[in-house]
Amino acid sequence: MTDLPWTPDFEVWPIDHHAARLQHSAEALEVIWSDGRTSQHHVLLLRENSPDPATIHPKAREMRISPTGIEAEVAITGAGILESGAVDVRFSDGTTSAYHPGWLRGTAWFGAPDPIPPILWRGADLTEPPTFDGPQALEDPRVFLRWLEALRDYGVARLRGLPQQDGLLEEIVTRIGPVRESNFGRQYVLEIKDDPDSQAFTPDRLLQHIDMPTRETPHGLQFLYIRANTTTGGEGIYVDAYRIAEDMREDEPEHYQSLVTDVWDYSNRARRSDYRARGPVVETDANGTITGVRYNTFLRAPLRAPLEVQARAYRAYRAFCARAQDPRYEMTIRYEPGDLLAFDNRRALHGRAGYDAKGGTRFIEGIYADRDDLHSCIRTAHRRIRAEAQS
Ligand SMILES: [Fe+2]
Repeated sequence: MTDLPWTPDFEVWPIDHHAARLQHSAEALEVIWSDGRTSQHHVLLLRENSPDPATIHPKAREMRISPTGIEAEVAITGAGILESGAVDVRFSDGTTSAYHPGWLRGTAWFGAPDPIPPILWRGADLTEPPTFDGPQALEDPRVFLRWLEALRDYGVARLRGLPQQDGLLEEIVTRIGPVRESNFGRQYVLEIKDDPDSQAFTPDRLLQHIDMPTRETPHGLQFLYIRANTTTGGEGIYVDAYRIAEDMREDEPEHYQSLVTDVWDYSNRARRSDYRARGPVVETDANGTITGVRYNTFLRAPLRAPLEVQARAYRAYRAFCARAQDPRYEMTIRYEPGDLLAFDNRRALHGRAGYDAKGGTRFIEGIYADRDDLHSCIRTAHRRIRAEAQS
């Protein structure tokens, strides 16, 4: 395999299928694979990904040319399969390029993009977060990876039985990616404050919410490390807001329409900061796929919209709220010392039962990070596993 061409990335591409036959026109290459599937590759896509040092920087693996650096009328003039299994393509501008078959197959279009869909849940389906042994996860990268994949798929995942160690939370989070700081600091402690700048720092019940709806992009991940908890009450409550949104898309289409289009204003309340952001409750991409929620009942600012929009937006918000606080959707868990709860702050709503502050000690550390780092960490872990399998 050493004579296969390099690729315009650092991926370790598996070769599960080989190119059996080729056809080409001036505009496209068609590959018929050993499993009978067919893929089509446009001339411009192939030309701009040509693994030659003039097109792709051989060390950075980034493109060196822009679309205008390629002749507008460039054509494929020939194609063949090399002995190594690479696919050789000749272009009208004189370039000849050999493509790694794993890359060609792995980047091909087979009728649908290939996202990993979230696994949606209600409290009845998922009574506890997916849970992994903390010390084992720290020791074994594969267990750590399974924890991260559960976080990606369910929006909430837990490590249990971690030792009590100052700095451990940040050590674990920075294995995934950089900490994303906030006005609450690099790391915060959930404790009762005399002059709280958030209801989180009181013993009161906290209704289900996301944190940081007041930011242009709310923090993607939150991690809570339980250092001590001997109080009565204070259970953690988690809700899958994507499940709620999908149920409303089905059952309450008018409210759903408001949730994805009507824009709410959020503002934090603090003496030394003034964060504000706007957005719909349910964020969707161009295909209508849900990508996040911006839901927090206690950080909403007055809604600035025409009266008829105010009326329908309030009705829809109330309907969403009714589900967010409906026990059918809630997963309620007791926090034990040594637990580390990780959750997707833009998907899994979190809340807290009130607790008796005089009845014991409660000490929880928290850190934020972002989703991109989680996904990058999972991808590079798989890349290492594939590299090991190939060596
Ligand atoms: Fe919170």
